[in-house]
Amino acid sequence: MTSLAGKTVLLIIGGGIAAYKAHELVRLLKTRGARVRIILTRAAEEFVTPLSLSSLSGEKVYTALFSLTDEVEMGHIQLSRAADLLVVAPATADLMAKMANGLADDLASTTLLATDKRILAAPAMNVRMWRHPATQRNVETLKRDGVVLVGPADGEMACGEFGPGRMAEPGEILDHIITMLQPRAQPLAGRKVVITAGPTREPIDPVRYISNHSSGKQGYAIARAAVELGAETVLISGPVSLAIPPGVQMMPVETAQDMLTACKGEMPADIAIFTAAVADWRVAGVAVDKLKKSAGKPPALSLAENPDILATIARGSPRPEIVVGFAAETERVTENAMEKLKKKGCDLILANDVSAGSGVFGGDRNKVHLISASGIENWPEMDKDEVGRRLMERLAHMLAPQQRAAE
Ligand code: C5P
Repeated sequence: MTSLAGKTVLLIIGGGIAAYKAHELVRLLKTRGARVRIILTRAAEEFVTPLSLSSLSGEKVYTALFSLTDEVEMGHIQLSRAADLLVVAPATADLMAKMANGLADDLASTTLLATDKRILAAPAMNVRMWRHPATQRNVETLKRDGVVLVGPADGEMACGEFGPGRMAEPGEILDHIITMLQPRAQPLAGRKVVITAGPTREPIDPVRYISNHSSGKQGYAIARAAVELGAETVLISGPVSLAIPPGVQMMPVETAQDMLTACKGEMPADIAIFTAAVADWRVAGVAVDKLKKSAGKPPALSLAENPDILATIARGSPRPEIVVGFAAETERVTENAMEKLKKKGCDLILANDVSAGSGVFGGDRNKVHLISASGIENWPEMDKDEVGRRLMERLAHMLAPQQRAAE
């Protein structure tokens, strides 16, 4: 049984019928030796009492009502900083919306905004509320911000409806807490990872451009995974509408030529990963003024080939120890990727099917094939975040052990 002695969990209980399960969660955490401090939202007080939770935890329970006096005794910032992990259970639709949008109008939401610690949230709500586009948007935002979600589970709800919305069981939440409190291995500490992501934007004139549908999601997910493994992570990104992952060094670029210059400027690096959907062509001779529409005579654009950033870095010097490319294919996925591996001089290619209907472009899931000189591995379909983690873990294993400074 993994001990949590010496660890402090700050449990934030939202106002939902599932709040009663928080008692069991507190009991389980105490059995493992954790210190449990508790904040109740005003709505949570309708479902559970500070007295019962304080008896179970052996600690004073903080409520919205007492927040002003507690603020004098212990600021919300200190309350969150003194914890090793924040757990929101149940995470109601309202609390998740506040977290996703940075609202801070009570003790719970202020503490969540002020924290520098990891957050685990166990959503619980009516199935329609869970499926509502607003909630799903908030879920995406929270995941991108690094909040870990457990559940919700499928089942019959207190309101009589059936579907996803039940809070994960306390035992399952405990398992996640234990995992999140384990010291994380940082095999890429002291290593530099450069990642390109998103589309490039090639101007036609001051107001028009050529670009593509790349969302940047896979590249950003890889950057998050690289940060988690301790790498100095540089993300060279074309224009996308994604939040900058915490801990990355962001370099926004627009054109392929800018992206190449930025990549060269970031060498030497240990690993370079090219996920960007670089435009193959740019407009030769970009118009200085906006092109005028003259009847019946569309302008003839003449195109010039863009530099191949991946091939330039893979064949350049100093070359990163590992160079990874992506191959977005619509047909003969693995065969084309094999050819690309040789042609571009990279060590690995992640090939995926982006044909219409695959849902990869802009979607959250991906099904990739990992291609190297030694063969092809077909990975099952998974979240882009999971692809990022698996890829970075694999690359960390592949790197030669670092030379010790004294050697
Ligand atoms: O040739 P293709 O565009 O299919 O190759 C895809 C791979 O090459 C991706 O890893 C992409 O980021 C990279 N690439 C690049 N510069 C280009 C074209 C592609 O870095 N001009």
